[in-house]
Amino acid sequence: MYNAKISAIAHHVPEKIVTNFDLEKHLDTSDEWIRTRTGIVQRHVVSPGEATSDLAAAATAKLLEQRGIEAAEIECIIVATVTPDMFFPSTACVLQDKTAARNAWGFDLSGACAGFVYALATASQFVHSGAHRRVLVVGADVMTSILNPADRDTCVLFGDGAGAALVEPAGAGETGIIDFLLRCDGSGGRFLYMPGGGSLHPATAETVGKNMHFVHQDGRSVFKAAVQGIVDVSTEILDRNRLSASEIKLYVPHQANLRIVDAAAERLGLGPERVVRNIDRYANTTAATIPIGLSEFYRDGKLRQGDLVLMASFGAGFTSGSLLLRWCL
Ligand code: ACO
Repeated sequence: MYNAKISAIAHHVPEKIVTNFDLEKHLDTSDEWIRTRTGIVQRHVVSPGEATSDLAAAATAKLLEQRGIEAAEIECIIVATVTPDMFFPSTACVLQDKTAARNAWGFDLSGACAGFVYALATASQFVHSGAHRRVLVVGADVMTSILNPADRDTCVLFGDGAGAALVEPAGAGETGIIDFLLRCDGSGGRFLYMPGGGSLHPATAETVGKNMHFVHQDGRSVFKAAVQGIVDVSTEILDRNRLSASEIKLYVPHQANLRIVDAAAERLGLGPERVVRNIDRYANTTAATIPIGLSEFYRDGKLRQGDLVLMASFGAGFTSGSLLLRWCL
């Protein structure tokens, strides 16, 4: 059995930026409302023809350069996404082709905003068991492909982006991934979902006319459940590892709303300097928020070997999860 660690981390967001002021021009909303209710100032969005696999491939290219390996050395690809390029083939297969990772197999994982934590935990088990030595984990979403641009309740909240992590066996004296805790509560499904396009409501002119291929949500119910869910998975994983929040060097919560992030951090007693808060620039990129946050902190030299990192997420499903690790880069 091997300990698993993150051996490289990178991210990519599309070039185009849409600010709250841009949205004001065609929607009954305001920069002031969006900023005060969510903390969002702008979001990156794809251009026509740019898909989830393109963002994933760009993040993967940066990751491979950072690690100094060829794509052919990747053994398995897990793409966490709710906005695959297509139903099938999987985005993992598309990514395998785009990056020429010819020796990898792979699959998509649908865990919504908790998708990256689910995927990282899954990858760690392939490494832990010895089945694989290099697993690529990508959290990527093009949320703008499933947003109703006329629905102010949802379309102001999301952006597009991708983050990628490489998972490998930890070296001698390294700890890497310590523990993870994964949950789902299907009774929360009715609060955040996309009804159309699946086997229940296949695409027809009627489903399109009824806006069934867009995100639908009850924002207040999701908000309450998200604060509680993120705090629960964070405190439980700390407790069972006999750690206190004061020992955490970096807390990486899912970025759905700055008020959710701040409420969770406050309940855990974590000061802002130890908490990833980048929703102002990216909005909610679903499976990509956690790897983007981690990648930025690492790039900016704010993480040191041995630092204790706690990730926590909550999303549609309801899904939730936390993962604890010692940074090894
Ligand atoms: N611009 C202006 N007004 C708006 C907008 C908008 N974009 N959206 C809603 N409003 C209005 C509402 O219609 C409502 O008007 P009313 O009082 O006349 O009915 C008013 O603003 C207040 O609405 P609330 O729903 O009470 O606003 P709230 O403070 O709860 O914030 C929000 C709404 C931002 C959606 C919040 O509930 C939230 O963030 N929920 C979490 C949802 C989320 O993050 N989902 C993402 C996926 S899940 C995840 O990642 C965890």
